[in-house]
Amino acid sequence: MSNSAPAFGTVMAPHMAVATTTDGVFAPAEIVPTGPIELHPAAHALHYGSACFEGLKAHGGVDGKVRLFRADRHAERLRASANRLLLPVPPTDLVAQALHDVVAANLDVVPDAPGALYLRPVLLGIDPNIGAAAAPSTEALLYVLASPVGDYFRGGNTGLTLAVETELPRTTPQFGQVKSGANYAMALGVTRRAREEHGADQVLFAPGGDVQETGAANFLLVDDRRVVTKALDGSFLHGVTRDSVLTLAGDLGYTVEERDISIDEVADWAATGEAALAGTAAVLAPVGVLVHRGRRIQFGDGAMGPNTTRLRDALLAIQRGQAADPHGWTQPV
Ligand SMILES: Cc1ncc(COP(=O)(O)O)c(C=O)c1O
Repeated sequence: MSNSAPAFGTVMAPHMAVATTTDGVFAPAEIVPTGPIELHPAAHALHYGSACFEGLKAHGGVDGKVRLFRADRHAERLRASANRLLLPVPPTDLVAQALHDVVAANLDVVPDAPGALYLRPVLLGIDPNIGAAAAPSTEALLYVLASPVGDYFRGGNTGLTLAVETELPRTTPQFGQVKSGANYAMALGVTRRAREEHGADQVLFAPGGDVQETGAANFLLVDDRRVVTKALDGSFLHGVTRDSVLTLAGDLGYTVEERDISIDEVADWAATGEAALAGTAAVLAPVGVLVHRGRRIQFGDGAMGPNTTRLRDALLAIQRGQAADPHGWTQPV
């Protein structure tokens, strides 16, 4: 394992996995050198957006072992996204094997903690047909990229600044649960404006005051007793980190509340509690400031609070093999 952790997502590991379909049926994934893929310029994904992806990590452990974190959940979410896009759905075993093999092929470049090997499975509709606006792609390409990463948010443990968006949702209701590029494209303009106008790191989407999620992570309220987050519905991505943190919170004696949260409640919460973003890339990142209706509302001293730290440490300890894994989340490679 190497010690250097390059900027998030900018450096690729030397090997990737690739699998394609024939008559809609996937052949086993092969490990190949990371490099350009051949795609017909008429490929369905390039025109009609039949593309989805995942993001998960393999962590270098304190014992020298490398462990995939909840790869089964990410494979299931990829399959759910594929279903929603009417793409050929890669079998669970094939995705599991591809993820395992990519990590095994790239063991040399897994960074030490706090870095990790970020894995990016991508599924594309590849039918060469520019007249298929109303028809799904029958053939697909699956590939899994790997990237040695450090912190997603360069500030490390300093609190993030979130600008609240109460007019626009992050994406459309039927795609909230799908991890597809179009969702991120929709959030780009809002996010850039928030950065320019407020120096915000992220946008907290709360259409009509209903707090959903940020552009790349789920949103949690935390205090000494409770962890509160929006109950699962179709409007947002059902994060694996969210689920993990809620489970660990229960283990640690917190009361977990999954329910609607209004933006006014978040603003009030800042007086006494903490807020955090949960995601594979973000891990559990503290919210320092909320920009809402022209006001800058600070959480605590603006840095990571004790409860966020406690939950984050509990999660990282399992991922790094420093603590027991009572829920069977990690898989040694
Ligand atoms: C929009 C969005 N919400 C939530 C998440 C968190 O999901 P997970 O914890 O599975 O990474 C992500 C990250 O992938 C995301 O992009």
